[in-house]
Parts: sequence; structure tokens; C-alpha cells
Amino acid sequence: MGRKLNLAVVGLRFGGAFPPIYLAHPEVARVAICDRDPAVLAAYGDRFGIRERFTDVKALLADPAWDAVHLVTGIPNHAELTLAAMAAGKHCACTVPMATRLEDLAAIVALSKKSGLRYMMMETAVYTTQYLHARAMHARGEFGRVQFLRGAHYQDMEHWPAYWLGLPPMWYATHALSPLLALQGVWAQRVCCFGSGAMRPELQKIYGNPFPIETALFRLSNGLAAEATRSLFQTAHAYLESFHVLGEKKSFEWHVENESPIITTMEPNEASQRGNRVATEPVQAEDRKDLLPLELRPFTEAHVVPDPQSPHQSIKQGGGHHGSHPHLAHEFVRSVVEGRPSAIDAVTAAHWTAAGICAHASAMQDGKEVAVPDFS
Ligand SMILES: NC(=O)c1ccc[n+]([C@@H]2O[C@H](COP(=O)([O-])OP(=O)(O)OC[C@H]3O[C@@H](n4cnc5c(N)ncnc54)[C@H](O)[C@@H]3O)[C@@H](O)[C@H]2O)c1
Repeated sequence: MGRKLNLAVVGLRFGGAFPPIYLAHPEVARVAICDRDPAVLAAYGDRFGIRERFTDVKALLADPAWDAVHLVTGIPNHAELTLAAMAAGKHCACTVPMATRLEDLAAIVALSKKSGLRYMMMETAVYTTQYLHARAMHARGEFGRVQFLRGAHYQDMEHWPAYWLGLPPMWYATHALSPLLALQGVWAQRVCCFGSGAMRPELQKIYGNPFPIETALFRLSNGLAAEATRSLFQTAHAYLESFHVLGEKKSFEWHVENESPIITTMEPNEASQRGNRVATEPVQAEDRKDLLPLELRPFTEAHVVPDPQSPHQSIKQGGGHHGSHPHLAHEFVRSVVEGRPSAIDAVTAAHWTAAGICAHASAMQDGKEVAVPDFS
């Protein structure tokens, strides 16, 4: 693209974290906001001084002024709005999950290939400080041979909007799985998954899912095994996203949400000793501001800025999902500007999302092995 981008964010609850980042981006000219709830739209637009507003996403998509959209609406319309956006000629970023049906994943992959438009699934878990730290260790060869991977995501969704109620845990498995798959640059080929626990009958009405927790074993395309566990309901556990990379020389284990990951180093011992020498130490994951343009760097951490409507007041910004938001926004913008696939393009996103969809299909057959389609 030979000029700056005009971009719109659709859905302003979690999505409200993103317009200020795009407004600060040096390669973005205009930012519009869209929410079908006029009260949310007005309150947000007034607060951040954004005048270009839409309540109807169809009107936004029909307006040629906008090059790209970032969808942050509820799960049931991700696929429909992504397809509509690309059919209207817009580059499209979408929050997780990409879709909840394999046929929708295939349709998005096909349209992104046919249209040449950029797609990106905005997976926060592969831009956290913790993941970026593990990625740098991997690039430096510190793990040695990687032997096993494990991820988890626990979140209690009681009293959330109706579309969450009873959602199959593995339909939203990308936070648990994507760090494992991204680090290795692989996809999951086969899965055996067990559902566990008992779900209240009213939570089974929408999706027919009887499981508050699902736990899955995946065979990856490089021959490794990986395990992922997800819970959404009726499980007493603090919010947790975690991942473990077990290597021959070093391992990286992020166990607890707001605690330091642990690095284990194994070194050869004398032959007279049983086992090798093992040392563990907590590590402070580095904030990789250096990967961002100067204007976006403040958004990796929580900070306050003056309220544009009343400058004596302040607005809290940044720091969401362990610093990942500005990295996601920057990667999406750069993929459009450079005319290249994004780091989480349609094929990658389909692989990450399909692994969870197939895991739930396995759980519904009491752990029967299910093959995960290859979208490449
Ligand atoms: N870490 C992460 O990556 C992460 C974190 C939180 C949420 N999410 C994802 O973000 C999405 C949004 O989460 P949320 O908690 O803000 O959801 P929400 O349902 O509370 O809010 C969605 C917003 O989008 C608006 N909206 C819905 N459909 C619309 C349409 N067709 N046109 C215009 N506006 C529309 C709604 O009015 C609402 O303001 C979810 O799909 C969730 O999966 C991802």
C-alpha cells in the first residue's frame, strides 16, 4: 500500500482496547469505530474523541473509505462477519476463535487465498511477554531438542453473555494451544480428547455440551505430542493461561498467571551420580518494546493518558493480556502495508482453531481419535 491505512474496529467491549493503539500507529491515517449498541458506541466515541462511528456493520463494509476492519464481536458472528468483510474487499483481523465450524474455517481460508486480502487472527497468547521470551530462547537454541509441550486455559464464564453459556471448552482452545503450535511452527494432525466433570443441565441447552472441562492429547506435524486442558464452567480455579516447553537442555514453564515463569536447566553430571544436575530459577520475561514503533511502545504496559474530552481527567490504557495488544495491531497493519501474509494468516489460524474443534468432536465420542484437516 502506498499510503496510510484507514481502519475500523467493530465491537467495543474487549475491542475497546484497540482504537487508541491504531490511532497512535504511524501507518494508520483514520480510525472508525462500530458497535451495534448505540450507547456503547456513543460513550466510547465521546471518551476517546473518535467521530467516525457506525452502528451498522453493513454500512461500514459498504463504505469504500475503509481499507481494513478488526472484528471484536461475540463468537457466533466471527465467521459471518469475516467473510462479509473480505467479500466487501476489506483486509480483516478477527479476535479468537476464527470460527466454530470446520466448514467456516475452510471458507475463510478459500476467500483469503482467492481475494489476496490480508487476514489475521488476533491471538493474544502468542504476543505475551512470556511467549516472546520463550520464542527468543527457542530461536537461540536454548531448549536443545524440544521433547513435549503443554498448555492450559482456565476461565470461569458464569454470567457472561448468552453465547458463552455451555460453550464447548475446546472451541475456545487457541490461548492454550497456539503458544505450543506457534513455537514449533507446526499444526496438530490428530487428537484424542476426554471431557470431564458434570455440567448443569441449563448450561447444556445451547451447544449440547456436557463437559465443563476438556483435556486433549495432540500428535503434531513434527512428531511431538502436546497436551492442552480447558475449563469454562463449574471449576474453582483462578483465571489462568499457561504453557510449558520441555526441552532436552532447558525447559520453560509458565505455571501461574501473574507469577514469573520458571526455567529449568539440566547439565551433565559425573557418571558416578544418578541423574543429571538440574537447576530451576524464575525468570522475568522481557517486555519486547523494541519490536514496536516508538508510538506503540507505551501500550505494552498499563499507563494513564489525559482524557481528550476533559484533559484534567485521565484514562487508563495498555498492558492488556501481558502486553500483547500493540504487537497484534502492529503485525496486522504491517502485513497490509507490506502486502504479505500476517503472522497468523488464515491457514495458520484455521490450523490452530480446527485442533480445538476436532478435540471437542473427540470428547463427544469418549476420546476416539479424530484427524484434524490440513488447510495448507
Ligand atoms: N485474549 C483474547 O484474545 C480475548 C479476550 C477477550 C475476548 N476475546 C474475544 O473477543 C470477542 C469479544 O469479547 P467481549 O467480551 O467484548 O464480547 P461482548 O459480547 O461482551 O461484546 C461484543 C461487542 O460487540 C458488539 N457487537 C456484536 N455484534 C455486532 C455486530 N454485528 N455489529 C456491531 N457490533 C456488534 C456488541 O454490541 C458488544 O458491544 C469475543 O469473541 C471473545 O472471544 C478475546
